[in-house]
Amino acid sequence: MSFTVETGNPGLRDVLKERTRQAHLETEKAMDLMSPHLDVARYRHLLRGFFEFHAAFEEFLNVHRKDWPSAVEFYFKDRRKMQWLTEDLQSLGADALPSAERIQENFQRLNEKIRSEAQLWAAIYVIEGSTMGGQVLHGHVTASLGLSEGKGTRYFRSYQSEMGKQWVRFLSELNSLTLAPDGTESAVKAADEIFEMFKEIGS
Ligand code: HEM
Repeated sequence: MSFTVETGNPGLRDVLKERTRQAHLETEKAMDLMSPHLDVARYRHLLRGFFEFHAAFEEFLNVHRKDWPSAVEFYFKDRRKMQWLTEDLQSLGADALPSAERIQENFQRLNEKIRSEAQLWAAIYVIEGSTMGGQVLHGHVTASLGLSEGKGTRYFRSYQSEMGKQWVRFLSELNSLTLAPDGTESAVKAADEIFEMFKEIGS
């Protein structure tokens, strides 16, 4: 599956894609979601980690709504993930609740690492990109955990049939940004940091 947008110039997406290729590979490996040994306990652990990340991220957006309104409104319009994660954890009967302390730590980390609008768009790039992995993964997870269709995989199914459209809409926003001179470098740093946070969820 591949979604492309013609923009005529190498936008921020091309740079982020190239410069985070290695981070993507490492994150995918740390998550190890395609493993034949995936079990419900491990899957639940990952979902809890995603919940702790997204709870912090959505709170971070709330706090910075006035600082970077276009990025925040773009995300809040129809890209929040917390409802999906809440449903998944409920249907899997989570035996340990997400940690409020962990959410707070994630929030602090985001506050330290995301200091500009370009960095926020780069963070959103990583988060929205991860929804494409979900498309590939949800069939495997459903089958290998013996879940009934739809149960516990709402987060991975994300935008479902709107997937391609959502990605293309996002890329056209990303590629039309006007960046400050150090904008590209700082965006790459922010994207790396978000990958790192996901990698830690898998570790
Ligand atoms: C764990 C298993 C994962 C698998 C199997 C996977 C798979 C994929 C696939 C197949 C694509 C390409 C879609 C396309 O070009 O049409 C993709 C893109 C992407 N994934 Fe993953 N992914 C995984 C995890 C993640 C995670 C955890 C993140 C971020 C935290 C992530 C971030 C991204 C990004 C940013 C892109 C877009 C790259 C671009 O600019 O084209 N992925 N992934």
